Amino acid sequence: MLDLIVVVSSIVALLIIIYKFKQAHQHNKHLTDELKQERQRNANIESDLAHANQKMEHISNELERVKSNSLPIRESREEHLSSENERLTNELKQEHQRNVNLERKLRISGSSLSQASQDNEGLSNQLAQERLRNTELEKELRISGSSAYHTLLDAIYAEKRIETDEQRQKFLGHLRKVSEELGKEYQAQCFSPDYSRQDYQEAYLLRYFLPYSQPIPYLLNRLILKKDFPCQLPQDGTLTASFFGCGPGPELYGLMHYLGGSQSGINISAAMLDIATWEHGRKIVFEHLLPRVKVREFKSNLVGNARDFLPDDSEKWVSNSDLIVIQHCLNEQGNARDKQLLENLEQIVRKMKPGAVMLIVERAKYLDTKDLFGKFRYELDKKFGNSLAIEGLIKKRDGIEIKPILEVIPKELAAYFFMEDSSNSVNPVKFIWMAIAKK
Ligand SMILES: C[S@@+](CC[C@H](N)C(=O)[O-])C[C@H]1O[C@@H](n2cnc3c(N)ncnc32)[C@H](O)[C@@H]1O
Repeated sequence: MLDLIVVVSSIVALLIIIYKFKQAHQHNKHLTDELKQERQRNANIESDLAHANQKMEHISNELERVKSNSLPIRESREEHLSSENERLTNELKQEHQRNVNLERKLRISGSSLSQASQDNEGLSNQLAQERLRNTELEKELRISGSSAYHTLLDAIYAEKRIETDEQRQKFLGHLRKVSEELGKEYQAQCFSPDYSRQDYQEAYLLRYFLPYSQPIPYLLNRLILKKDFPCQLPQDGTLTASFFGCGPGPELYGLMHYLGGSQSGINISAAMLDIATWEHGRKIVFEHLLPRVKVREFKSNLVGNARDFLPDDSEKWVSNSDLIVIQHCLNEQGNARDKQLLENLEQIVRKMKPGAVMLIVERAKYLDTKDLFGKFRYELDKKFGNSLAIEGLIKKRDGIEIKPILEVIPKELAAYFFMEDSSNSVNPVKFIWMAIAKK
C-alpha cells in the first residue's frame, strides 16, 4: 500500500510536475512570442531610427547647403536694400527740400499775389484817373485846336488873314454856302467843278479832305491781310506812289497814316497827277498836314491822249510806283469819254511793275462809275488774263461804308460850317472799289 501510495503520490507528483512543466513551457512560449514581437518592434524601431537618422543627415546636409547658398544672396540683397534705402532717403530729402522751397515760394507768391492785387487796384485807379485826364484832354483839344480839322481851319484862317471871332464866323458862314454850291455840282449828272476857285478848295478841304483820307488805309489793310493777294508794298526805305485826280491829296494823307505817320521809317515819294493844280489847297496841306512829304506834280488828263495823260517823265514814275491810286475822279469824266479813259487805265496796268497795286475808289452813289468798273474788269480779264489779281466790290449794294475820321471837330466849324446837315464829316460814306495787282 505504501508502495501504492508512493506510486500514486509519485504519479501525482509527476503529473503536477508535468503540469507545471507544461505551464512553464506554455509561459515560456508566450514569453518567447512576446520576445519575438518585442525584437520585431525593436528592429522596426531601429530601421525607423536609421531612416530617421538618414533623413536627419539629409536635412542637416540640405540645411548646410542652403546656409552656404543663401548667405551671399542675403548679403547682396541686404547690400541692395541698403543702397535702395539710401537712394530713397536721398529722394525723400530732396522731396522734403522741394516741399520747403515750394512752401517758401507759396509764401512769397501769396504775398506777391496780395501785392499784385494791390497793384491791380492801384492800376485801375490810375486807369480811371487816366480816362478822366483823357476826357479833359479831349475837351482841351477841342479848345486848343490841335486836331487835323483845327490844323486845316487855322491854316485857312492864316492864309486869309482872318483873326477875330466875328471874321471867323462870317467866313465860315460864307464857306458853308460855297460848300453847298459844290455839293450841288456833285449831285448833277454831268459835272466838272471849277477847282481853280480858292473858295471851292477851302470848302473841299474842310468838308471832304479828312473823310476821303479813309479808304486807302482801309483797303491797304484789307488787302495786306489777304495773304493770296500779290501786292508787295516795301516795308522800309522808300514807297513810290502815283495819285491820279488827287486834288489836294487826301489819299496821300491816308497813306502816311497807314504807314505810321511822319515818324515811320518809310519815306513816301509821291507823284500827284491831276488836270487842276490846286495850288492854294496843296499849299495848306503840305505846309501844315504833310510837312515832310516831298511830291512831284504833273498836269495830267485822265481822258487825254497819251502825251496829255502821262506827260514828261510821269510815265517813268508810274512804272516805278509800288502803289497807284485813282480816287473820286472817274465820275467827273462823263460817259462819252469812257473809251479813252479805259485805254488810259489799261495803259497804267501795262506799265505797272510786278508786285505793284492799283486802287480805284469811287463814291457808291455814282452809278455811271459802277458801269465803268464792270467794263474795265471785263477788258482786264480779256487782255491780261492770269497775270493780274483783281479784287473789289463794284456793286452799289456791296460798297463799303467807312466811318468818318476820328478827329475832333472844332466848335465853330460844327456851328457855322457843318451845322446839322448830313456832312461827310459826321456820317459814314459808302465806297465801291477795285484793286489790281500785277503778278
Ligand atoms: C472830287 S475831286 C477828288 C480829289 C481826291 N482824289 C479825293 O479823293 O478827294 C476830283 C479830282 O479829279 C480831278 N480831275 C477831274 N477830271 C480830271 C481829268 N480829266 N484828269 C485828271 N484829273 C481830273 C479834279 O481836278 C479833282 O482834283
